Amino acid sequence: MSDHGLIARALQFHPWDAMAPPALEALAKRGPFQFSAETGCGGSTIVLSHISKHHTAFAIEGKERTITGLRQYADFRPDSVVFVEGETRRTLPLHPFAGRLDVALLDGPHAYPLPQLEFAYLFPQVRVGGWVVLDDIQIPSVYELVRFMRMESSMVLEEVAVRTAFFRKIRECDLGPDGWQHQAMNRRGILRYSWRDRLRRLLHPEPRA
Ligand SMILES: C[S@@+](CC[C@H](N)C(=O)[O-])C[C@H]1O[C@@H](n2cnc3c(N)ncnc32)[C@H](O)[C@@H]1O
Repeated sequence: MSDHGLIARALQFHPWDAMAPPALEALAKRGPFQFSAETGCGGSTIVLSHISKHHTAFAIEGKERTITGLRQYADFRPDSVVFVEGETRRTLPLHPFAGRLDVALLDGPHAYPLPQLEFAYLFPQVRVGGWVVLDDIQIPSVYELVRFMRMESSMVLEEVAVRTAFFRKIRECDLGPDGWQHQAMNRRGILRYSWRDRLRRLLHPEPRA
């Protein structure tokens, strides 16, 4: 589903903070959605208020008074959006999600490790076949999450629209309480700190059972 007129109007809301037009197009073409969530809010919330039946925006009002501004914006559909106001590091861990998400857009705080923390809470809520969308991947703290996600077998990078990455969840991923050994990013240890163990194993191989 895509509506060029709606996207053009949504981009006029706080244009200094807006996602790139092709990124909003790429989001809209994946809709309509039953359940969606985003961190931060803005033009994307206006678009999602049209293409999602139940949208939740985890955001702060901020000095721009963004939530108030959205509620007053002509193209915003208030009936389909719930704002959970506050910093995501406080609101996300406590939020009771009503249904599995078709899409989770991460575009709130970008300081390390806040996108990573949002991912930890939102990824399990996304249904298999749904999307995790990361905006502003030009920022190193966000790109670090992209690097991790690209290596994981539970998701695939489907598209990058300008500076927004669209990952599709292709399987569930439950590592239990830790399970770091099963993550692709941990397949090889950091040589600078692991060479002693590697050398020891080479010189004294464990006897085969
Ligand atoms: C880049 S803007 C979002 C732009 C939006 N996706 C759009 O399409 O216009 C980032 C938003 O995150 C909000 N934000 C910043 N820090 C936050 C935090 N710790 N928790 C929740 N929202 C936060 C800001 O108030 C701002 O609305």
